[in-house]
Amino acid sequence: MPSHSHRGRFITFEGLDGCGKSTQLERLAAALRKHGCHVVETREPGGTATGDKIRKLLLDTGTSDLSSLAELALMFASRAQHIKEVVQPALAEGRVVLCDRFTDSTEAYQGGGRKLGSEPVLALHHILCSDLQPDLTILMDSDVAHSVERARRRNSRTAGSSRGKPDENRFEQESRAFFGRVRQAYLAIAVREPDRVAVVDARGTPAETHARILEVVRRRLKLAARTA
Ligand code: TYD
Repeated sequence: MPSHSHRGRFITFEGLDGCGKSTQLERLAAALRKHGCHVVETREPGGTATGDKIRKLLLDTGTSDLSSLAELALMFASRAQHIKEVVQPALAEGRVVLCDRFTDSTEAYQGGGRKLGSEPVLALHHILCSDLQPDLTILMDSDVAHSVERARRRNSRTAGSSRGKPDENRFEQESRAFFGRVRQAYLAIAVREPDRVAVVDARGTPAETHARILEVVRRRLKLAARTA
């Protein structure tokens, strides 16, 4: 299969649930637009009509007894569709694609968290995604306890508050040990691929984290030459 080549820039955001990824992605998008970049914001699982259906199934706490391999396959089904329908066309047009989670999430959550290991994840990425690699991955590193607590608070505010019960997604119900494995798997990817993955400390204020991310993007991709 041919490897992907493109004119645009593909930047992915990774990290534990509740580390503040979505906020930082939005802030970077705004900063890049200010500098005249054509930015596409998207996310996984989801990002397409078909992918959003898969996302619902994957995150729904009512989806019981899903096997780890079925979960892995669904993540990649959503991703294959997303690449074909959104990511690849945007990159071909020279846009900057900011994606909330990509294959590193699968390696961290299904490979590490679910203990499937990296090998099946990388094999499927090769077969189903033609090894498409981000130009830059921002790995937002944070404490396990802090991130998961934040994700739970966020969800209880948005969805479950009227019933007085947090509405966690299927992953946020997982144990501290699960998220510890996810974090370790993420850090191992960063060690393996230092040219692609930049680890950014996400424990400060949103403004501090934003400044760190802008600096990384400026230095590594020569985008957003002046910090806004
Ligand atoms: P989401 O609500 O988007 O979480 P967050 O805002 O924290 O990113 O839910 C996505 C969930 O799906 C999250 O818990 C991580 C999980 N996930 C995987 O387990 N594997 C994957 O490949 C992807 C893309 C996400």
